[in-house]
Amino acid sequence: MSSLPSFASTLSNNSGLRRASRMAQPTTGRIDPPVAEATDEEAAPMTFSKRIRAETAQAHRITESTSFVKGILRGAVDMESYRNMQTGLYVIYSAMERELERHNLNPLVRSVYFPSLTRSRALEQDLDALWGGEWKNRMTITPARQNYLDRIRWVGENDPGLLVAHSYTRYMGDLSGGQVVERIVRRSLKAEGKEGFRFFHFDDISDVKAFKNIYRRCLDGLPISGDQGDQIIAESNRVFTLNQKIFEELDGSWIRALVKLAPIGFSQRQAVSY
Ligand code: HEM
Repeated sequence: MSSLPSFASTLSNNSGLRRASRMAQPTTGRIDPPVAEATDEEAAPMTFSKRIRAETAQAHRITESTSFVKGILRGAVDMESYRNMQTGLYVIYSAMERELERHNLNPLVRSVYFPSLTRSRALEQDLDALWGGEWKNRMTITPARQNYLDRIRWVGENDPGLLVAHSYTRYMGDLSGGQVVERIVRRSLKAEGKEGFRFFHFDDISDVKAFKNIYRRCLDGLPISGDQGDQIIAESNRVFTLNQKIFEELDGSWIRALVKLAPIGFSQRQAVSY
């Protein structure tokens, strides 16, 4: 694991948190703590990790509410849609991780750069197993994948500090809801063993919960100046939308899987209450 940056700065703008606290809570287990209404004078300082969590809560809820994701949570995933989903992730992760590595000396990127999070290699191994080799020739760059790629490349070229938002949105999601997804997909596909599921396992992270807290402290220590914090949060909201579009594109394959779905007696709430 790379060394940790100093946990220096906290931010005091909490208007977004108060705004988010008034919204309905998400439905799949990500519960953002309620925050009491407070005037600007009496408001306690807000750490950046709390701000970004609160100010992307609505985007998270929208993304996890796409019918493809809801389908996964209901156990309606077949091998073809799972393969497509992981292929899409590979397209995105390989581009994102290339940029993160390229800019890992950037003061912002460096603060959240952990090689132990890297997913591209695990995805390659999964796709080998899921497609039985030859998958690189079958990889399609759909419009939603292209838009996401374009954004990653634009950020890498023009404003690399915003890669923090790409790292946060994907990796913290993988360390959280991703673990739920694995369990349900495995159950749906009746799959056992590591093959095809390496993506969900962070072999170099022994305590996921502790790691997420370390990552949050790194966010709190970001050497942010001016309105960079606002820009990173805006970028994270954008990344959620890019992911939402990817899921919407996968909808067709989900509907096909739903037709095949047998009753499984396994509700979404049970699924995420571990
Ligand atoms: C299958 C659907 C999903 C479920 C069930 C789910 C569930 C969760 C849960 C339970 C948490 C809270 C974990 C904790 O407090 O330690 C969480 C956090 C998070 N999720 Fe999701 N999630 C889903 C989809 C996604 C997607 C698609 C993304 C991004 C593309 C995402 C990004 C995040 C992020 C960034 C966090 C961290 C929030 C923070 O603590 O700052 N999630 N998710």
